[in-house]
Amino acid sequence: MLIRSRRGWELPDSAATPEDVFLSRRSLLKAAVAAPAIAAAGSIPGGPAFGQTEVAADDPTAGLYPVPRNERFTLDRAITDPAESTTYTNFYEFGSQKNIWRAAQKLKLRPWTVTFDGMVEQEQTVDIDALLKRMPLEERLYRHRCVEAWSMAVPWSGFPMKALVDFARPLGSAKYVVMRTFQDPGMASGQRQFWYPWPYVEGLTLAEATNELAFMVTGMYGKPVPKQNGAPLRLAVPWKYGFKSIKSIVSFTFTDQRPVSFWEQIQAAEYGFWANVNPEVPHPRWSQARERVLGTGEMVPTRLYNGYGEYVADLYKDLEGERLYV
Ligand code: MTE
Repeated sequence: MLIRSRRGWELPDSAATPEDVFLSRRSLLKAAVAAPAIAAAGSIPGGPAFGQTEVAADDPTAGLYPVPRNERFTLDRAITDPAESTTYTNFYEFGSQKNIWRAAQKLKLRPWTVTFDGMVEQEQTVDIDALLKRMPLEERLYRHRCVEAWSMAVPWSGFPMKALVDFARPLGSAKYVVMRTFQDPGMASGQRQFWYPWPYVEGLTLAEATNELAFMVTGMYGKPVPKQNGAPLRLAVPWKYGFKSIKSIVSFTFTDQRPVSFWEQIQAAEYGFWANVNPEVPHPRWSQARERVLGTGEMVPTRLYNGYGEYVADLYKDLEGERLYV
């Protein structure tokens, strides 16, 4: 089937990219970025070098960072080298390969507005810079576990999603929030691939969206988040597989109907609504027991809820009948 052959990220990395090709690409990339990385090293207080990903010329938010770190969120592993996490990305709007970071530079960051609609007290469309001024920016160290069985650990900057939900003022009857990525096939060549159900859509229950861990990302490594990682506004829900963490969001719709997300529309048996990380529930085509750590290549055991059970396990205690881990 045509669609199946196009979806590289569904394969475990070892299958999608032969490991030897992958490793030699990594060495080339490392060599290519070494000089700018060293040059940039001094400019990020307490952080690693930013690799070749300089702040985009059309991103006016550099002055907002770095922001104070929220020390409540700690890591069990080293922060991923930014030369890896900013060049090995999933952003299907710009292509189905991991190395689309150059193509993603076409993403136009301004003007950028964010719409809040559906079951809200009053629908509104807000300029992203006005929104950022109203949000309490902080930095958090989070793990990220992709459904493809690789992981990274990054310092995101941004604000609790709860602050955004409070700003939107949903009605008491709203149960879900649906998020959408921009749609512009002229700018994003992947969106010309008509067999995908664009735009990228994701959803959370309001209980999930207002959980302390749900985080709206606007920065990474003490700088604005790079285009390829989802500028100017993306989600980080680290207890769920990475496809839930939608990038470059333009709207939040509040509803009482459970949405069907992008990958669920394509293959519901493999990518469900909940998608909570669980090493004991394999993906239909591969094991989820272990994960390859980006940067080191080390294989480590995957943890239930990606290690964040103390924050989120209670959300699911009355939902045993649901496919919580697919
Ligand atoms: N959001 C959009 N709009 N388009 C995408 O293709 N890919 C998802 C998620 N958000 C994706 C997206 C997947 S599969 C993962 S693992 C993460 O983004 C990857 O985030 P990263 O590239 O910053 O590591």
